[in-house]
Amino acid sequence: MIGDALHLIKAYWNELWEYWTPVIMISIGIIVFVLEAFVGMKAEYGRYNKKKSGLPAPIAWLIQECPAFFVPLFLIFYNGVKFFDSSNSINTNLVLLMLFMMHYFNRSFIYTTRIRSKNVVNYLENFLAFVFCFVNGYQIGHYHSRILKSDFFEWNFMLGVAIFFTGFYINIDSDNRLIKLRKESNGTGYKIPKGGMFEYVSAANYFGECLEWFGFAIASWSLPGLAFAWFTLANTGPRGYHHHLFYKEKFGSDYPKNRKALIPFLI
Ligand SMILES: NC(=O)c1ccc[n+]([C@@H]2O[C@H](COP(=O)([O-])OP(=O)(O)OC[C@H]3O[C@@H](n4cnc5c(N)ncnc54)[C@H](OP(=O)(O)O)[C@@H]3O)[C@@H](O)[C@H]2O)c1
Repeated sequence: MIGDALHLIKAYWNELWEYWTPVIMISIGIIVFVLEAFVGMKAEYGRYNKKKSGLPAPIAWLIQECPAFFVPLFLIFYNGVKFFDSSNSINTNLVLLMLFMMHYFNRSFIYTTRIRSKNVVNYLENFLAFVFCFVNGYQIGHYHSRILKSDFFEWNFMLGVAIFFTGFYINIDSDNRLIKLRKESNGTGYKIPKGGMFEYVSAANYFGECLEWFGFAIASWSLPGLAFAWFTLANTGPRGYHHHLFYKEKFGSDYPKNRKALIPFLI
């Protein structure tokens, strides 16, 4: 009897994280996209924090991003995830979880020691980002630590991982270029980003980030992976477009004419 009840609770718990959470995330992503793209709302940090109240950027980013590293790490140990299955094939879901954690290790503990922004992150924005990283860390961690897959030679895994690493490289390269610009401008003020994918798009860091998570979603072929990729696009896409308009307004005819906002040669 108790065994049946526990079994049922476990089934509901799995359905909550593997179906309902992604569905809710996709729905909130649609709302965020509409608000940012069509109503003109902007997340209040960086150049758009008009109130100038909040936590210093390095501390805020560390607090908000680190759950996406620690929650999956906890789940790997809690679920006793194995690197090989019974036929000695690599557990590709664990590989994907390690890629996810690698990204968030950089974002939480390396990126934050390097940014020199004097802009602050609004408290509410910081809290919402923390909740998102916690929920997303659990959603991605739950699926990839519970379900064992051995897809190493499947087309979607190989293609997805290749796209992920391309995006990871572009994201870090673009972050580095912006960090350098921020240092050159002494913590405030904005210059025209140059080099790398910035030659093609104004929001090269966001382009790299979107590539990463769509690659991850293809490799994972799961609803949680798709939900996170869509949310990243819905969140960073319109913000990247706002950055593009910001540069065009600020630099006028000095701003490269052929540069697009987010997707090279397209948008
Ligand atoms: N997965 C997701 O949903 C998600 C969401 C948001 C961000 N991210 C990632 O997090 C990272 C940071 O994002 P972000 O929104 O802070 O990016 P951002 O607005 O491009 O700013 C990045 C950093 O560079 C500085 N900077 C930007 N443009 C500059 C310029 N033209 N001249 C001088 N300094 C400049 C910013 O300073 P200021 O702070 O003073 O503006 C900030 O320190 C990116 O890699 C992004 O992909 C991911």
